[in-house]
Amino acid sequence: MSARIIDGKTIAAELRGKVGGEVKRLSTQHGIVPGLAVVLVGSNPASEAYVGSKKKMTVEAGMRSFDHRLPETVSQAELMALVNKLNADPAVHGILVQLPLPPQINSQDVLNAIDPAKDVDGFHPINAGRLASGLPALVPCTPLGCIHLAKTVRPSLAGLEAVVVGRSNIVGKPLAQLLLAENATVTVAHSRTADLPAVCRRADLLFAAVGRPEMVRGDWIKPGATVIDVGINRVPGANGKSRLIGDVAFDEAVAVAGAITPVPGGVGPMTIACLLVNTVRAACAIAGLPKPAV
Ligand code: GUN
Repeated sequence: MSARIIDGKTIAAELRGKVGGEVKRLSTQHGIVPGLAVVLVGSNPASEAYVGSKKKMTVEAGMRSFDHRLPETVSQAELMALVNKLNADPAVHGILVQLPLPPQINSQDVLNAIDPAKDVDGFHPINAGRLASGLPALVPCTPLGCIHLAKTVRPSLAGLEAVVVGRSNIVGKPLAQLLLAENATVTVAHSRTADLPAVCRRADLLFAAVGRPEMVRGDWIKPGATVIDVGINRVPGANGKSRLIGDVAFDEAVAVAGAITPVPGGVGPMTIACLLVNTVRAACAIAGLPKPAV
């Protein structure tokens, strides 16, 4: 038997289409065009590529995209000044400062300076706290995408055993909170977890978000489980090229799981789609409108 492959590329395109519909509605009914500002410091090639796709998809969804590029040598004060300007700009509903930032910058101070109402990354402590308290919040995009993908296989997550491998602020912790809100039974495992394979084998829903290539093996997976692979690891490939692999040994896992996300083409495309969702949600909340249909 072979697992169903969860097609993140197609599911993300559908979600972006729904975002486009809501953007049109906001524009015609309320005269609001959601705007997303992206701040890129320096010229990390991976970040450049990510920011380029964000811009393209933002515009395709009918929203405004504001790109801000700052030199690698930018000072904390200059970056803070830009964030404050974007906080005050009524055309900007979402602000994303691309990470990582260079060493002279205190990243947490920058994230803390973003208006929580415009924090479409969901990294501000106010949004993290609101999520953990079960209050309305802007939620980090990658975990949102993971839940969306899991629900394409299991429309209700209630009562399921969910195991999240990884405890980062960007993925593991907010994902655990979202799963709790969906009434799953949640275990957060990490590098110090005893007998990690046995913990993973309990999971009806297994999320791998550790950044270690192919760490999760086929025999760590409960037969029929839904496996969501958040890992994007660049490793040397054939003839000097590099290739992307996940945190799950796909070829082994696909023979055991009930459904699994590929890498690339699984969680990756969902992250930008969810960023667009967050920007529309932020625009509605800022305007005092009801939550949008995405
Ligand atoms: N760098 C890699 N992924 C992300 C993300 O989701 N948000 C931000 N701000 N930076 C990133």
